[in-house]
Amino acid sequence: MQNILVTGGAGFIGSNFIRYMLAHEPEIRIVNLDALTYAGSMENLANLPDPARHTFVKGSICDGNLVMQLLHEHRIDTIVHFAAESHVDRSILGPGAFVQTNIVGTFTLLEAARRFWLNEKALGTQSVRFHHVSTDEVFGSLGPDDPPFDENTPYAPRSPYAASKASGDHLVRAYFHTYGLPITITNCSNNYGPYQFPEKLIPLMILNAVEGKPLPVYGDGMQIRDWLYVDDHSEAIRRVLHDGRVGETYTVGGDNQPPNIQIVNTICEILDELQPDAPHTPHARLITHVTDRPGHDRRYDIDITKIRTELGWQPSEQLQSGLLKTVRWYLDNPAWVDAIRKQQEYQQWMEANYAGRQA
Ligand code: NAD
Ligand code: TYD
Repeated sequence: MQNILVTGGAGFIGSNFIRYMLAHEPEIRIVNLDALTYAGSMENLANLPDPARHTFVKGSICDGNLVMQLLHEHRIDTIVHFAAESHVDRSILGPGAFVQTNIVGTFTLLEAARRFWLNEKALGTQSVRFHHVSTDEVFGSLGPDDPPFDENTPYAPRSPYAASKASGDHLVRAYFHTYGLPITITNCSNNYGPYQFPEKLIPLMILNAVEGKPLPVYGDGMQIRDWLYVDDHSEAIRRVLHDGRVGETYTVGGDNQPPNIQIVNTICEILDELQPDAPHTPHARLITHVTDRPGHDRRYDIDITKIRTELGWQPSEQLQSGLLKTVRWYLDNPAWVDAIRKQQEYQQWMEANYAGRQA
């Protein structure tokens, strides 16, 4: 692993991963291909450690010529593929972009990797890797007594987002079995931490609470996610890149499964403590139950036995301390927050997703 192409590296997890890898891997160089959609920004890449080892390229993973050019120019031996449309609610209101990026984009990357590594034999196949970053949402929704998802759970996606990620996963695995492309996949649970776009639950609730706006909890708020601090995810991917077995999938989770309402209450309690004089204290007053998400998955839970026993990985961040760090980060970075809040696109999204929901 020397020359890594990271796709989607200006987004939430990709930018955290780049920061983490530059700090932990002194030899690597990173080329970051990102289309800078609404979810990606150069501000996410501020203050990288050793920035000379990071090259940013604005472009789409659907542009096969550009991807081929980058593979040749930088002699890419490792692809870590994050680029995606990633928000379930947006996939409900507009699924087309999800099909393009998550399916066609993944296919385009796979084709380029196949040509460069397998057809042109540009580098030894022992030293190359296509790592695909996926989600636990491909497995569908668990009932209260179902066992957690693991690597053998059948796929049963229920949102356009999850279905598009599932399609991507299937293509990646097909390229391993059919062409021998050296791949690995991680299916990870919900991430949280700095630089997450404030359309997702945790940053949205933090920013709304600080502003004294309603905290829109979908339905009864008893849906369950398995929350993972983003640096733990980066370390899991790093372990898979180093020691993961080619062709294998690893499920990655945080071992933290509170219902959504508890997450929101914890954020409110943290803000009550950090900002006792805020006009909105106690912040829990702002909680408003609103119309549920259509097809809302009820529960996710991840079994991490395989990655723990094979690669020695387990999450290190506790939810309470991770949430405290995250709330502090949003409070300490008003310029980052304001840049997003000012975007017309963001205001339009908030209107489109929330205005029609009944309290
Ligand atoms: P994000 O939405 O914050 O970032 C996605 C990035 O991809 C953005 O920078 C965007 O500009 C870029 N992008 C979108 N379309 C592109 C295209 N066609 N070409 C190049 N770049 C493009 O997403 P995230 O939360 O950082 O998620 C990253 C990956 O991790 C995704 O594949 C997602 O499915 C997966 N994942 C996310 C979570 C989570 O909780 N956020 C959990 C498990 C898996
Ligand atoms: P989200 O962060 O969108 O991640 P995902 O849908 O991929 O799990 O949502 C996390 C949970 O929070 C999910 O159960 C939906 C819920 N949620 C709300 O209750 N209100 C909101 O405004 C949002 C964005 C999410």
